[in-house]
Amino acid sequence: MADVRRAADTETRSRRPTILLDCDPGHDDAIAIVAAAHYANLVGITTVAGNAPLERTTYNALVMRDLLGIDVAVHSGSGRPLVAEPKFAAFVHGESGLDGADLPPPTTALDGTHGVEFIIETCRANEGIWIVATGPLTNIGLVLRVAPDIAKRIAGISLMGGGTFGNRSTMAEFNIWADPEAASIVFDYGGQLVMAGLDVTHQFQATPERIAQITAMPGQLASIMSDLFGFFAATYLARHEPGSIDGPAVHDPLAVLALTHPDLFQRQHQHVSIEVSGELTRGMTVIDRRLLVERHAPNCDVLTSIDADRAFELVAQSIAHFST
Ligand code: RIB
Ligand code: CA
Repeated sequence: MADVRRAADTETRSRRPTILLDCDPGHDDAIAIVAAAHYANLVGITTVAGNAPLERTTYNALVMRDLLGIDVAVHSGSGRPLVAEPKFAAFVHGESGLDGADLPPPTTALDGTHGVEFIIETCRANEGIWIVATGPLTNIGLVLRVAPDIAKRIAGISLMGGGTFGNRSTMAEFNIWADPEAASIVFDYGGQLVMAGLDVTHQFQATPERIAQITAMPGQLASIMSDLFGFFAATYLARHEPGSIDGPAVHDPLAVLALTHPDLFQRQHQHVSIEVSGELTRGMTVIDRRLLVERHAPNCDVLTSIDADRAFELVAQSIAHFST
């Protein structure tokens, strides 16, 4: 019987996407790490400055890796955008980037090479990797410029970012807004691209009932995630009109679930490009939704809706799996 189970597990694992997660933990990035570790073959984590300075996002990635007890390399990447001045999001995630919980210090060290080098080496050695990006796209833009061959070796790029409206400016979402030049390289790279923008992530909110489900779980990880959700909810709700949202939008795990559970989503194949010079629109994802025959050829699967209840159940199961 054990052989049958092992074979089934091997077969299941072989169907799971192999992903390399580039992130800026960040409360929702932390959840993306848990989901990726549970539902995908996670081959590495690279960090980028974004929600907090690089030293913090890297520390937080190490904390999460060791909390999950997974054997996955963490490499630190770019500490600043390609052109833009570094901008952080302490007003959402706190100065540490992961405020709200008493986090155990990492127990294992950072792996040595630069995140960009690690992504290039890993994607050259293993064809068909999905790069999942849940922070500013600086590392991925550099990868595509330093090693253009990567574009054809990877399965694609699934990213959280953009949308038809913004959250850091009227029209620009934080991950794109923080490094528009890098985002422009990524959206022009020519390979498979999946975009989880604000239009879909705002449909996926950590409501009080959903947070209560995590709080009720036994184990250290669930307790920490409950505290992190509590902090994330407080900063989100404080910034929004009363009654306009039920909880924080849990953005980043959707870039993972888009690959591991694609049937959760509706999507539209559209052309998306990045505004890099507009005074009011720098960092905007310009999505061509015209129904004209003459229009830009689509380059991106834009996620448009999600089965939020099923998706949160999957997030909860991934937390429970690692919460001992
Ligand atoms: O706009 C939301 C995105 O910006 C998320 O990835 C969040 O973690 C921040 O990086
Ligand atoms: Ca993020």
